[in-house]
Amino acid sequence: MDADLGNYRKSYEKGELLLNSVPENPIELFRDWFIEVDTHFNVGETNAMTISTVGLDSYPKSRVVLLKKYTHEGFIFYTNYNSEKGKAIADNPNVCLSFFWHAAERQVIIKGKAEKISENLSDGYFESRPRGSQLGAIVSNQSEVVANRQELEGKLQDLEAEFEGKDIERPKNWGGFIIKPVELEFWQGRPNRLHDRIRYQLQEDYNWKIERLAP
Ligand SMILES: Cc1cc2nc3c(=O)[nH]c(=O)nc-3n(C[C@H](O)[C@H](O)[C@H](O)COP(=O)(O)O)c2cc1C
Repeated sequence: MDADLGNYRKSYEKGELLLNSVPENPIELFRDWFIEVDTHFNVGETNAMTISTVGLDSYPKSRVVLLKKYTHEGFIFYTNYNSEKGKAIADNPNVCLSFFWHAAERQVIIKGKAEKISENLSDGYFESRPRGSQLGAIVSNQSEVVANRQELEGKLQDLEAEFEGKDIERPKNWGGFIIKPVELEFWQGRPNRLHDRIRYQLQEDYNWKIERLAP
């Protein structure tokens, strides 16, 4: 079955990004964009981002995760360290994050290095999660093959009984990664396909080199 999508066309007219108006630090621009998108555009989950890793099979793989915190140091999300992405990161910490905020006609692409965050930080976040999510993290050997859904639901029921009235400890194979950025690109859609693209690259002296890229 063929599907020709050649007529899908849209003019982007919601904003602009000029070199002389961007901050020296890209995290500040990320923060400004994030808050603006979250406040003024109805994008659903503003913090949903795609993370691409290079796998043990040497193929790149992308999947969506939720950004849970960003600071001047980097971008934090939580996952199972034994998942396919966890193993990929252990082998090659170079990853790429991307956000596509459709309603704002904006994209942000971040290259960086992933590191596990401290056990304390992961504990703190795990404790803040609803009980169901805590148990889910224990039940799921993320990325492993399961025979059927009943197997998972059965495990969950058993754990609910086992932990009734008790605190649930974070499993050691579940926790956060921080992505420390080395390059960020901000893309703002513009009319006539002359989109704005501003790239920040981390220099050896820890300053950011800022350049405009052709669309
Ligand atoms: C909106 C959305 C949010 C998600 N958030 C997370 C998350 O924060 N952490 C996570 O491990 N998986 C999350 N997932 C599931 C991942 O996309 C993926 O299926 C899972 O992490 C297993 O990936 P892997 O087998 O490549 O390691 C999310 C999926 C969607 C669609």
